[in-house]
Amino acid sequence: LYGELQLPFKHSYLHGHIYPPFVKQQHLDETKAFKVRLDDVFIATFPKNGTTWTQKIILNLHKVHQTDHDLAKPDEKHMLEVMPWLENTPNEVVDNMPGPRYIKTHNAYDWVAYDPAVPCKYIYIARNPKDVCVSLWHHCKGFAVFEYDGPFDEFAELFLQGKVESGDWWEHVRGFYKNKRDMTVLFMKYEDMHADGAAAIKKLNDFCSLPPLTDEMAAKVVELSAFKSMKSDPKSNYSWLDDVRKKDQAPFMRKGTVGDWTNYFSTEMAEKFDEKTQQMFSDLDLDLSCDK
Ligand code: A3P
Repeated sequence: LYGELQLPFKHSYLHGHIYPPFVKQQHLDETKAFKVRLDDVFIATFPKNGTTWTQKIILNLHKVHQTDHDLAKPDEKHMLEVMPWLENTPNEVVDNMPGPRYIKTHNAYDWVAYDPAVPCKYIYIARNPKDVCVSLWHHCKGFAVFEYDGPFDEFAELFLQGKVESGDWWEHVRGFYKNKRDMTVLFMKYEDMHADGAAAIKKLNDFCSLPPLTDEMAAKVVELSAFKSMKSDPKSNYSWLDDVRKKDQAPFMRKGTVGDWTNYFSTEMAEKFDEKTQQMFSDLDLDLSCDK
């Protein structure tokens, strides 16, 4: 067991939140003091809720708006070079980026970079917790740094107790959904992005204050951001981290579907998750049940 929380995977426990072991106190403190700009857009998520997909959509939105851009041209930089992960990037790197900056963060609502005098934007993506749990289990087993190889049932119990990377999924979602500081937040669901990609893409386009998007452009972005094309794209599929992944585990771009949890959850565990969802979201008009 690792750390003061005695968890079966390696982690950093900082300011009451669980991070991967490479996130250090000093840098996390810096992220809280990070200087936001008015044209910043944060892509804020609990891990495995659709962060990379959303990043890719935004990247492709920028491409389709550049009339001279050759859409067949492969990206030169990988996703995290273009849209850095704040908790794992030195502040000065992000400070030196030209705007508009798109910044990934898994920080909880109470720890997100925020300045009421500079009302930048936050895109928050939530996915049904059972699929998140399955995806995070594979993630935790896949990255060697966690030194984890436990069974799914053990991991699901930890997830229920908020003892996984980024802590309690329900608290994380609640924070951004309740948005007590009235930040400019676009709240979206992974499942809605699946059900109607073009509609989700138009919402993202308008929220990012990009020029109007035609149906044709939206369809192009759907195609360019589809799971299949991202999976085969070395600048989107996290293959740049292959040397820190265990070779016998699922790849980062694993399945990308809705309802995979039915292949992993016992009836009893599914009921526990549903009960917690009911209890934690009883006062929210938010359906993330995914009763498939
Ligand atoms: P699975 O493990 O269920 O396949 P994040 O980027 O927040 O870490 O989320 C990763 C999850 O999103 C993985 O889920 C991954 O496969 C899925 N994903 C990534 N790109 C996707 C896409 N274009 N369409 C659907 N799902 C996608």
